Amino acid sequence: MAPFNSRPQRRPYVVAHTAVALDGATTGFAPDTERFYALAATWREDITLAGADTILAQEKALASAPRPGPAADGPLLAVVDARRRIRQWDALREVGHWSGVIALYAESTPARPPGSSVPELVTGTDRVDLAEAIDTLGRNEGAEVVRVDSGGSLTGALLSAGLLDEVSLLVHPCLAGATGGHQWYGSASHSAHTLELIANETFDDGLVWLRYRVA
Ligand SMILES: NC(=O)c1ccc[n+]([C@@H]2O[C@H](COP(=O)([O-])OP(=O)(O)OC[C@H]3O[C@@H](n4cnc5c(N)ncnc54)[C@H](OP(=O)(O)O)[C@@H]3O)[C@@H](O)[C@H]2O)c1
Repeated sequence: MAPFNSRPQRRPYVVAHTAVALDGATTGFAPDTERFYALAATWREDITLAGADTILAQEKALASAPRPGPAADGPLLAVVDARRRIRQWDALREVGHWSGVIALYAESTPARPPGSSVPELVTGTDRVDLAEAIDTLGRNEGAEVVRVDSGGSLTGALLSAGLLDEVSLLVHPCLAGATGGHQWYGSASHSAHTLELIANETFDDGLVWLRYRVA
């Protein structure tokens, strides 16, 4: 009989919640952020998993944002950052959304400055091993739910690797067209997965919320 502590642990439930235009773009239009974050609270995630580019896009706003300090009951922010491009860890920790931060690095990640106090998890060689990172976060942090914050690149990588359980799209009644350079599915293959509709809701302002289970 296997010893009690060697039981396989269930991987956390992973959901990517994204604001999109009708053409699937995640940029190049003005999302309803109030509605977006209100709906994001649905999952009460233990970990917010963000791509480095998503965080870098908020750098300017973050620099001048109030810093009330870590949110004791908030999720942990984990940022995929194999190239170590993120610098504003203190601001992220103190902006009041998250209880703490953790950098997800790879073996190839440039050396950290001496005395760096940023908690880190190293997986993968050239890039972060997303499966191992999620498994380890689930085990080490006791995380059951991970919400992905991505403009498409990270979501696509997770989708391709079979690591997404749910896709949530808040569809805006507009087209981003040429101004939207990112699609919510990144470079994921069009035929790799079946998406099963599990919920939908229409709001007065023309927004439609679609939730799909990834089969
Ligand atoms: N509409 C929305 O809901 C929404 C949400 C978030 C962001 N955005 C917007 O989207 C833009 C950023 O999105 P993005 O698509 O450029 O980037 P992203 O989703 O932030 O993802 C980039 C990150 O994914 C990692 N990654 C990609 N493929 C990987 C793989 N196969 N294995 C391991 N790691 C992988 C990259 O790793 P490396 O570090 O190795 O490069 C990088 O850290 C910004 O303009 C932001 O404002 C929109």
